[in-house]
Amino acid sequence: MPRITVGVDGVTYEEEVEPRLLLVHLLRDRLGKTGTPIGCDTGNCGACTVMLDGRSAKSCCVLAVQADGSEVVTIEGLARGQEWHPMQTAFHTEHGLQCGYCTPGMIMAAIDLVRDDPDPSEEAVREGLEGNLCRCTGYATIVRAVRRGAREMARGETGARTPPETGPPPETEAQSGAGARNGAEARNGAEARTP
Ligand code: FES
Ligand code: FES
Repeated sequence: MPRITVGVDGVTYEEEVEPRLLLVHLLRDRLGKTGTPIGCDTGNCGACTVMLDGRSAKSCCVLAVQADGSEVVTIEGLARGQEWHPMQTAFHTEHGLQCGYCTPGMIMAAIDLVRDDPDPSEEAVREGLEGNLCRCTGYATIVRAVRRGAREMARGETGARTPPETGPPPETEAQSGAGARNGAEARNGAEARTP
């Protein structure tokens, strides 16, 4: 089986993987990153969105072997120590979620969107997140959250709300360098960026 090296949330993993293994299954089933949900497994819902070498990607559309040498950031790696990312705080403040199933992917896609458009209009948010589906909210609060998050990211806000105690804080330093960019066809983001 192929052996891959992949950085996930600042930790480097070496894994033997079947060539058919999807990145989302590597994350969830092998690495325990269950904060990244699976909604459809067919690239339609966006629930599984992560950052792959700084760009948002639907991890059910990327083979694990395509992530060899790459850096992945999941929703579990967004906070810095005890401080949420501003986009996480904005979703909390604006009640941009109900069941929360779409939320990890929404937040990752939103960060990607804002890096392209630091002050997105409502229309731009709706268009930019059209690959991420929500069955609960009706999207109005999500749009408000993304626009608030964009403003706070522009101001350099730290998102200084303490996250709930769901586990140890993420590593703050990546332990391996970003490698070759793989799986570009599966990405739903635009330009290279980091969360
Ligand atoms: S699980 Fe729906 S797009 Fe990946
Ligand atoms: S909050 Fe339930 S699917 Fe979006």
